[in-house]
Amino acid sequence: RKYDPYRPSIQTFDLITRDASFLCAELLPNPAEETRKLALLQRLSEISAETFGDAEVLPFGSSGNGLALANADMDVCVFLNAKEGEEEVSPAEFVERIGDRLEKEPDFENVLQLRKARVPIVKLNHINGIACDIGYQNDLAIWNTRLLRAYCKADRRVRDIVVIVKQWAKKRRINNPYTGSLSSYAYVLLVIHVLQRRGVLPNLQATVEGNGQVPFWDCQGFNRYFFEDISRLSRYWQPTPESLKQSVGELLYEFFRYFASEFRYATHVVSIRKGGLLTKEMKEWTKDHTQAQADSKPNVKNRYLFCIEDPFELDHNVGRPVDRYSLFTIRGEFMRAAKILSKNGDGAIARLCVERH
Ligand code: GTP
Ligand code: MG
Repeated sequence: RKYDPYRPSIQTFDLITRDASFLCAELLPNPAEETRKLALLQRLSEISAETFGDAEVLPFGSSGNGLALANADMDVCVFLNAKEGEEEVSPAEFVERIGDRLEKEPDFENVLQLRKARVPIVKLNHINGIACDIGYQNDLAIWNTRLLRAYCKADRRVRDIVVIVKQWAKKRRINNPYTGSLSSYAYVLLVIHVLQRRGVLPNLQATVEGNGQVPFWDCQGFNRYFFEDISRLSRYWQPTPESLKQSVGELLYEFFRYFASEFRYATHVVSIRKGGLLTKEMKEWTKDHTQAQADSKPNVKNRYLFCIEDPFELDHNVGRPVDRYSLFTIRGEFMRAAKILSKNGDGAIARLCVERH
């Protein structure tokens, strides 16, 4: 590891850890919110069943992986089991039919059908205060949600670190893929990457029972295998003794320091699947290009400035929205964060998450 002249003292780390744990307790959703989410899920299941017959509604994203902040949107995905001989419902048709149906229901507001998006969805608000995105037949989203949940279970420190990083990114306005910054999903992958490097987390996609080979479990052409039964993880993998001593404060500092000054944006690709770094050359992620989409959907601009490999969809750069300008802003925020945490532990978490205007 490189010598770090700015590295704060253990006392500073302890203060950061204490404040981080207070802030997390404030930011996590309360039981009442969880109950409202469950009720909404139930309601959507009924409506989907009435509209399509055999349907299953599953939460994904933060409502499924245990990493939600209070008042987070709920992401759900509907799966239809087409009967023998029945024509499959296309994503655009799904969005139209369920959207039209929900518009008629009195407890849903602002129902918006995004039929032509790369991933067609319906957006809406429920009158119980929850905003919700409804997607369709997205198996990989369910699997990556379960993968993130497994990482979260593997070590108690993961959730606190993710919650603080999400809050920081929201307050600093670098958590919006539509304006060139990163999704929450991307930040979680970055956190897992740093924790793997420090021996806090294993690589669950390379962990296998006994000394067998990594199996291939096909999902839309990708391998969705990972070691999911975390209660048995200690038989196959142990954190390094050094990593057990690191506090949430220290790991938070390391996270920001790593992306402020160690990670090489020009050459490297973050890969939690590999448990480390790949290069852009290895992945042939060297040239930006525009990807044409079928059926008059808008073209997607693939950029490779900040490269974060999706753990399953290996040709997908989760950092794709990042352009030259937003990369500059994001790196500036990593530097600001590392600097704040390296100074005075007291109040550092509050300063870190100060709203940017
Ligand atoms: P919050 O909504 O901020 O609480 O975070 P989240 O954990 O729900 O993450 P986010 O809304 O960014 O992503 C939701 C889910 O979309 C992820 O858990 C993935 O399952 C799926 N997803 C897959 N690929 C992508 C991607 O490239 N971008 C985004 N945004 N989501 C993806
Ligand atoms: Mg979400």
